[in-house]
Amino acid sequence: MRHKFALILILTAIFVCPILAGQELKPIELPKPQVTGGKPLMDALRGRQSIRSFQSRPLPAQVLSNLLWAAFGINRPESGKRTAPSARNWQEMDIYVVMADGTYLYEAKAHRFDPILAGDHRGATGGQDFVKDAPVNLVLVADLAKTVDASSEGTRVSVGVDAGVIVQNVYLFSASEGLGTVVRGSIDGPAFAKLLKLRPDQKVIIAQTVGYPN
Ligand SMILES: Cc1cc2nc3c(=O)[nH]c(=O)nc-3n(C[C@H](O)[C@H](O)[C@H](O)COP(=O)(O)O)c2cc1C
Repeated sequence: MRHKFALILILTAIFVCPILAGQELKPIELPKPQVTGGKPLMDALRGRQSIRSFQSRPLPAQVLSNLLWAAFGINRPESGKRTAPSARNWQEMDIYVVMADGTYLYEAKAHRFDPILAGDHRGATGGQDFVKDAPVNLVLVADLAKTVDASSEGTRVSVGVDAGVIVQNVYLFSASEGLGTVVRGSIDGPAFAKLLKLRPDQKVIIAQTVGYPN
């Protein structure tokens, strides 16, 4: 009887564990971003617009790499400063990347997606019909622990502006790349924070959908 039980345990370890492990999210090492080229700035500004109808096809790794670098990547490695300004260089904005296979956190220094939550949680980033099928939803979360006087009006305004400049980087990159995008205030921030088990001083600010337009 004991032997039978041990055998079952061993077989479970051999056959079931690898299947479960396969469901675990792994970090995504992004290819080096292509930081030259693209449309001239005035052409990108002319094309900037909100799009609300997307193809479901995923974005290639190189496009994801370029997108996140454009959004809030490090453009001056010697100082660690970024493609978007931030109040007092707090760099308090984290970008969560919500895709069909799971939710990741963009780590700018390593230029990598770190796994946060397996499964398709795109629908948790907003109720508009295109949100759950578009390949990428970015969620901007401010880590207020990196700010000063987190509850003050000044800091609230600064955090909003810090999100806005990242959002516009994504709009301009999308216009240059032939992608569609729309920024969305209509995300249930507390529900998303609960799903991701965020700390109380991590505040969901805004979401932005990105994908190939229909
Ligand atoms: C702070 C903010 C929140 C927004 N929230 C939403 C939203 O929840 N859903 C949506 O479809 N568009 C949203 N938008 C996009 C605006 O509706 C859009 O920018 C506006 O209609 C102008 O269109 P354009 O971006 O094509 O110039 C938001 C824009 C901003 C700046």
